[in-house]
Amino acid sequence: LAKAPRPSVIWLPFQECTGCTEAITRSHSPSIEGMLFDMISLDYQETLMAAAGHQAEAALHEAIQRNMGKYLLIVDGSVPLGLDGAYSCIAGRSNLETLKEVAAGAAAIVAMGSCAAYGGLPKANPNPTGAVAVSDVIKDKPIINIPGCPPIPVVMTGVLAHFLTFGGLPELDRLGRPKAFYGETIHDRCYRRPFYDQGKFAKTFDDEGARKGWCLFELGCKGPVTYNACASVKWNDGTSWPVESGHGCLGCSEPDFWDAGGFYKAL
Ligand code: SF4
Ligand code: F3S
Repeated sequence: LAKAPRPSVIWLPFQECTGCTEAITRSHSPSIEGMLFDMISLDYQETLMAAAGHQAEAALHEAIQRNMGKYLLIVDGSVPLGLDGAYSCIAGRSNLETLKEVAAGAAAIVAMGSCAAYGGLPKANPNPTGAVAVSDVIKDKPIINIPGCPPIPVVMTGVLAHFLTFGGLPELDRLGRPKAFYGETIHDRCYRRPFYDQGKFAKTFDDEGARKGWCLFELGCKGPVTYNACASVKWNDGTSWPVESGHGCLGCSEPDFWDAGGFYKAL
């Protein structure tokens, strides 16, 4: 069993900021090192792999051929459809072309982060590149959406561990998100919720209510309409999360959050 090949994983980066890759390297349970050494064969991941250029492309095509129909495809970043996909190309090919080719041989696809799951920042108004989600392009493969900007590190590795251990998709909600992590709102689990229920709200970021840890709803918190596990799983090895650090939730795991009023606007 120790010599059994580890399942092949191919990770394609499209219109993204590398924040999802940056985040997954912070996962502690399972850790990215634990996954790489014991659970998966990460055959292509531009940021983490040693190979570059032609060597990287060769690794990608070898992995596809060797594991046809069996590999797990992870995508981060949105797919630009404008100008026939010319806004984002790797090795001379558009992301659209690469996605269609690599998805055809995948057992399942994980759309990692809000850009891959919903279009994310590139799709924000006025969406100059015609950015879309992976699920807008690929219709014939199971897709797990793991949104967030970025997603919580242990949620990313936890969902991958589930898929690799049980060989199937976890239970998903109506937006294709694993219910185990996206089944409740931030507001459902927020430790400031008792203040919301008592009508105690901070009015500015430095008033007495803010110093006492009151609810941030009147400062724009999107926790009541945002499904994610930040309030229970937290970030950075369980250290803290946005609301605990004193700022309301921006709703980063919901579709089109960049245009949904979570950010400040110049007056
Ligand atoms: Fe809900 Fe946000 Fe208030 Fe927490 S801070 S109780 S998530 S509105
Ligand atoms: Fe995102 Fe809100 Fe969590 S902004 S990181 S879903 S608290």
